Amino acid sequence: MSATKKLLVIAHAPSENTRKMLEAVINGASDPAIENVEVQSLAPLETQPEDIKSADAIILGTTENLGYMAGLVKDVFDRCYYPCLDQTQGMPFTFYIRAGHDGTGTRQAIESITTGLRWRWVQEPLILRGEWQEEFLDQVKELGMAMAAGLEAGVL
Ligand SMILES: Cc1cc2nc3c(=O)[nH]c(=O)nc-3n(C[C@H](O)[C@H](O)[C@H](O)COP(=O)(O)O)c2cc1C
Repeated sequence: MSATKKLLVIAHAPSENTRKMLEAVINGASDPAIENVEVQSLAPLETQPEDIKSADAIILGTTENLGYMAGLVKDVFDRCYYPCLDQTQGMPFTFYIRAGHDGTGTRQAIESITTGLRWRWVQEPLILRGEWQEEFLDQVKELGMAMAAGLEAGVL
């Protein structure tokens, strides 16, 4: 029997749509067919270096604000980057961005920071851009499910 692994979801969800997205990610990752994966969801302000160090994989969710990730998400990296640097290299990681019209600045910033951390991008990130579409919920649900399934299968 394999030990339970922890999938940590750190998401900034300041609107009804982004809250629904977070719920969908968690639902996907908590699919009953996936055993031995515990999903922990934390708001950025609650996230401490220990939460990241004890994770086996991470999904980050943010809005794009003013061409960059949400300030609260940047604050996670500001507080956790150095405390995590030595112990989280190789961390399986992906992210999703809810962007009103762009998302590229946020994607570049997250990729640059997580390159510094030596995290591994194991799933293509999602940029959910433009007017709200219900389909976004299916996409983030699949992202959550794929990460959890990969973690369970030991292929991440
Ligand atoms: C102050 C502010 C700045 C924003 N800047 C950007 C931006 O630079 N690029 C972008 O694509 N969307 C931008 N947006 C749109 C947000 O990404 C969007 O409102 C957020 O993802 C919530 O989406 P929702 O309306 O589906 O809940 C901005 C929104 C606010 C309130």
